Amino acid sequence: MEQNSAPIGVFDSGYGGLTVLKELEKALPQYDYLYLGDNARAPYGTRSFDTVYEYTLQAVKWLFNQGCPLVILACNTASARALRNIQQKDLPGMDAEKRVLGVIRPTAEIAGKLTKTGNIGILGTQGTVSSHSYMLELQKFYPNVNVYQEACPMWVPLVENNEHDKTGANYFVKQHIDNLLGQCPDMDAIFLACTHYPLLLDKIKQYIPEGMRVFEQGSIVAESLVHYLERHPEMRSRLSTASSRSFATTDQAASFDRQATVFYGKSVSSRRIELL
Ligand code: DGL
Repeated sequence: MEQNSAPIGVFDSGYGGLTVLKELEKALPQYDYLYLGDNARAPYGTRSFDTVYEYTLQAVKWLFNQGCPLVILACNTASARALRNIQQKDLPGMDAEKRVLGVIRPTAEIAGKLTKTGNIGILGTQGTVSSHSYMLELQKFYPNVNVYQEACPMWVPLVENNEHDKTGANYFVKQHIDNLLGQCPDMDAIFLACTHYPLLLDKIKQYIPEGMRVFEQGSIVAESLVHYLERHPEMRSRLSTASSRSFATTDQAASFDRQATVFYGKSVSSRRIELL
């Protein structure tokens, strides 16, 4: 990355945010992007509020120090557990010009438009589900939509360990889909509210009835960022546009590069960094 570059920072606990980065790049290819995966400390989904907040704040500070004027938390767990604190408490004291955005609000903003029955399902990590962030956000935009949630604690480990396409994963996928559908037979839209879950999409589709739709977040978040940058020319002008892509991980770079290809669809070359 060039010394004066001002990339869009994209953060996730591990590889999941790469499913978002892929879509950001498609929608806004001209910008520079710097991806950070906290692989050494993933998964975040079962960690406490305080821990996720502390780790996420460290990641945001690191990305700011690398020159990112804008950071996207491409992680629902971090968005649910840390975003509000960072935006309200930390950001004003760090750099009032910089911005941190999450993935929950853009998803909630359109979710209500994608259901006919008014019943939607949310699949997420324990941290995201117990925060009730989707219920709270959706309530603001669509007070008449009913939200049903299911936490799927085994799904991220399956994906992080490259077991998501093996037959062993079927049991855990079916179990959580059955639990979700058992809460409401009339649900017609399910949202993958964890950026790791798109890798399980084929399996998820095997267990849901025909006609029920499943939505991934990548393109939703990308479209929302397009609109955000249209509304914020001051941020647009701060971002550098050399179409470069850089990757950093808190774990081994070689294993990140191998596994990242599965999520990103292209080969990557990362560097290892430390978050403090
Ligand atoms: N990919 C993240 C999310 O969207 C979190 C996975 C995890 O670390 O548990 O929630």
